[in-house]
Amino acid sequence: MTRFLITSALPYINGVKHLGNLVGSMLPADVYARFRRAKGDDTLFICATDEHGTPAELAALEAGQDVAIYCLEQHTIQADIGARFDLSWDFFGRSSSQQNRELTQHFARALWKHGHLEVRATKQVYSHVEKRFLPDRYVIGTCPYCGYDRARGDQCENCTRVLDPTDLIDPRSAVSGSSEIEIRDSAHLFLKQSEFVEQLRVWISSHANDWPNLVLSIARKWLDEGLRDRGITRDLEWGVPVPDDIGDGQLKGKVFYVWFDAPIEYIGATKEWSDARGKSDSEWQRWWRPASPEDVTYFEFMAKDNVPFHTVGFPVTILGSGENWKLVDRVKGFNWLTYYGGKFSTSQKRGVFMDTALELLPTDYWRWYLMANAPENADSSFTWEHFAAVVNKDLADVLGNFVNRVTKFCAARFDGKVPGEGSYGTKETALIAELDRRIAQYEEHLEQVEFRKALAELRAIWVAGNEYLTRAAPWIAIKTDRAKAAVGVRMGLNLVHLFGHLSWPVIPSAARVIHNAIMEAPDIIPWAAGPMARFLDQLGAGQAIRVPDVLFAKITDEQVAEWQARFGGEEAS
Ligand code: MF3
Ligand code: ZN
Repeated sequence: MTRFLITSALPYINGVKHLGNLVGSMLPADVYARFRRAKGDDTLFICATDEHGTPAELAALEAGQDVAIYCLEQHTIQADIGARFDLSWDFFGRSSSQQNRELTQHFARALWKHGHLEVRATKQVYSHVEKRFLPDRYVIGTCPYCGYDRARGDQCENCTRVLDPTDLIDPRSAVSGSSEIEIRDSAHLFLKQSEFVEQLRVWISSHANDWPNLVLSIARKWLDEGLRDRGITRDLEWGVPVPDDIGDGQLKGKVFYVWFDAPIEYIGATKEWSDARGKSDSEWQRWWRPASPEDVTYFEFMAKDNVPFHTVGFPVTILGSGENWKLVDRVKGFNWLTYYGGKFSTSQKRGVFMDTALELLPTDYWRWYLMANAPENADSSFTWEHFAAVVNKDLADVLGNFVNRVTKFCAARFDGKVPGEGSYGTKETALIAELDRRIAQYEEHLEQVEFRKALAELRAIWVAGNEYLTRAAPWIAIKTDRAKAAVGVRMGLNLVHLFGHLSWPVIPSAARVIHNAIMEAPDIIPWAAGPMARFLDQLGAGQAIRVPDVLFAKITDEQVAEWQARFGGEEAS
């Protein structure tokens, strides 16, 4: 039996993430991890904050904090908000950890030893005021082509021409505005990615049937456009230092580029996890260096801008090391979630962020909406109207109402105990057959990480329960035939129990409340090995049940209006 290793793209350290970030990486990874655990599989779900690079340094500068302290604080904030969203990481590490530093240096040494790295002379912009090199996009000036006066050193936003900072007229630092800058020679390490094109092509093609088209097309586009060798070091202070034994002494004081060390932190965080539990190296290595690659099935979740780094960049690091590290098996990529058709933006604070979301409503409202509308085959648009409609219909009317109706009626007419009278007839047999089919579908969609389809099926399962109850109508039967009413209530309670199990990967908090109405829920609410619908004839007569509080409150028109006014609701132009 294979073990399941699951990673989510590492959220960048510079502030709380928005719902678009959440639905494109951490949340689907969590749903999948919970599904595997429910199935009883040996599962490890790893995430971490991505802490190096210029954006971290600049965010710390803006906050007036030392970058290491800034990162520690922000890590704690993100860990807390993740836990409150019920993201069930086995470990939430930090790319600035000692473990990642050692692993990053290890990979660099291996690549160097095998001749895949080369020192090359480059020209970089140095700012005298900041006393540091500036990455191209932090140099601004006048575009030589169109005269736009805030063109960035990598590209002019106005005319879209790709630029080199040396092209700019009146160049200055975007950070301080100072024009005391000069171009200096600086040696850097390059990873000769071009040597791996054929190997990558073969590997990517071997996944033609199990990676989404979005992922395959992005990966192939990169190869088709000719893979450029990649600079993997930077003139920064904050990062993993390049060890002295690489680069013949020309790389003193430099650090690795954030995109080199960040994916290695998937491994680093796994070692952080096993170190934190006082285990030996074999504990994390059994995930990353299994005796045979089939022992571990490795899933990665990410938004589409991350796909090149996971289908090309990180695999080159792994392959080039010449060591038997685990390569990813399934890459699940996502399109964008937009906010009224426009961008969610961290810098412009547009859209809804994870912390504010939880101030408005509990986690499962968001988890359900986001996963049911995940941007899988195309971008999808968040609007408050759509959010309210989905929550009110799926969660309040269908699921919440069902649980409420059944448990309340049982409390009122059967003393809050599972009634034992009567036996299942054709209505019940038909329902069990239908649910057997649907549950198999639901499970298959989850296996294939097709979340929209999976959640549509889960909703259909809830609907089937509702329709059954309407047909069985125990509140009418009770007037003339108590045994008949008892059968409907018994099936209804069994359905409530089943829904607690099936819903747990997606809406874990609500699923616990639902399950607890029937009997106390374990930490991981497990799925049965055989057909799940046999759950439907399980509850013993006389067992006491509880009526839970209202599971999902409806979102009112007033709330929609208030949130639109507060967060902005206009269509983006
Ligand atoms: N921090 C990156 C982003 O937000 C993702 C890094 S994923 C990793 O786009 F693999 F590099 F860690
Ligand atoms: Zn221009």
